Amino acid sequence: MEFKAESGAARRTRTDCVVIGVHDDGVAAGSGAAIDALLSARIARITAAGDFTGRLGETLMLPDLGKGPAARALLVGLGGAKTWSRRSYRKALTSAANAALKAPVSDVVVAFADAETPDTDAYYRARFVAEQFTHAAYRVPAIRSAKKAKAPQLKTVRVIGSAAELGDTRRGLRDGSAIGAGASLTRDLANLPGNVCTPTYLAREAERMAREHSSVHCKVLGEREMRRLGMGSLMSVTAGSAQPPKLIVLEYRGRGAKADPIALVGKGVTFDTGGISLKDPGGMDEMKFDMTGAASVFGAIKTMALLNAPIRVVGIIPAVENMPSGTATKPGDIVTSMSGQTIEVLNTDAEGRLILCDALTYSRRFKPREVVDIATLTGACVIALGAHNSALMSNDDGVAESLLAAGQRSSDTCWRMPLAEEYQEQLKSNFADFANVAGRDGGAITAACFLWKFTVGLKWAHLDIAGTAYVTGAAKGATGRPVPLLVDYLLAKLG
Ligand code: BES
Ligand code: MN
Ligand code: ZN
Repeated sequence: MEFKAESGAARRTRTDCVVIGVHDDGVAAGSGAAIDALLSARIARITAAGDFTGRLGETLMLPDLGKGPAARALLVGLGGAKTWSRRSYRKALTSAANAALKAPVSDVVVAFADAETPDTDAYYRARFVAEQFTHAAYRVPAIRSAKKAKAPQLKTVRVIGSAAELGDTRRGLRDGSAIGAGASLTRDLANLPGNVCTPTYLAREAERMAREHSSVHCKVLGEREMRRLGMGSLMSVTAGSAQPPKLIVLEYRGRGAKADPIALVGKGVTFDTGGISLKDPGGMDEMKFDMTGAASVFGAIKTMALLNAPIRVVGIIPAVENMPSGTATKPGDIVTSMSGQTIEVLNTDAEGRLILCDALTYSRRFKPREVVDIATLTGACVIALGAHNSALMSNDDGVAESLLAAGQRSSDTCWRMPLAEEYQEQLKSNFADFANVAGRDGGAITAACFLWKFTVGLKWAHLDIAGTAYVTGAAKGATGRPVPLLVDYLLAKLG
């Protein structure tokens, strides 16, 4: 899909379909009002007659307009004018995109992208157009024997704005479409089944990205190098699997970047059975999503490469499969991490922290100015925050603030939770420096506290995305989060 910014008036623009936003009082927003005037108040009459209420997300296609340069108008309900917000704006875009994708149109003009929206300037209004349309057009990589679903006709989406806002609108569409492409890559990788998306598969995908973009470089460490580096914690997780582990280093070097890199460390458990501490069977298939942290690093780096952003980003992805077997790590086993600290593995299902701790230690060699790890780390995080916010823990208030703000700007939000020594005490072990689990209480926090022991002296933040990375139920699948958050965070640090 292509996104274009044009200056001019939507009412004078020739298109297959003009998308008009209408509030529940029947008033068309933004340049929609002028279009209704051109249509001799047809929209006002339709709403007065009750055929369209303007309820948020409602859609009505008016084919064969007869008047004006647009062949059709797609009405989209914006809800109450008083409750109009960035959230309703994004919801209306999603409904508009879904309806447009079903219609026989190849070009649409979004005529409510110029509507005044709280906390949302022309840049973000345009960016969300590109993000939401790309999100709606996304199709899961089909592994079905039956013939493929018909591809939608929609090819171009345009935003017509005033000349004064043209620059911001153009930038918004450019960034939004790059974020959309990055998030689609994240969703593709995460949606693949565990028997396809193995650590080796992820390593090949990284090599492929490096071939596609000259600004991206890739290095893959195998078991031998890991052993030499002393990554006993990472290696203990993969001991029961027939799939070899990979440590993938994916580096984006933007031209003109002078500052030290930002490191993104993504949990890449391509399937998490729990190991010897085997999980319950119900919903275990969803543990194929346990590499979404890794996939979000792929997505963020892809976005940076598409934007040619002047920044250095090092992606570090420990990729493993967590399986039970005769060679698997057992509860009570003690392993030595790359940092030298020893860990008693009381629960083999707390494997994410065991691979991340060695990857975090490894990240030090890149002298990163900031390190962010991204992981579907705990079920406790889902209990605490649900599906709307990722959890954020950090040993540095500056890093925490920049991630919180990036989450607000991108509408891909996170919520800060504490890191404190009291919690760390729960990780006590009778036999090693500490254990890998600390009981049920504050599970998301104690998991972060474990990682904290490996990030002393680093400016570090942890994002637990267990609740936000994918949805369950009928619409099961990866969401592409937190790619928009990571990209906003990185774009704020250019140079
Ligand atoms: N991958 C899981 C966390 C998870 C659970 C993500 C549910 C998404 C949905 C992680 O490896 C795990 O198993 N964590 C355990 C930790 C516990 C053993 C301390 C958990 O959350 O139960
Ligand atoms: Mn687990
Ligand atoms: Zn896991």
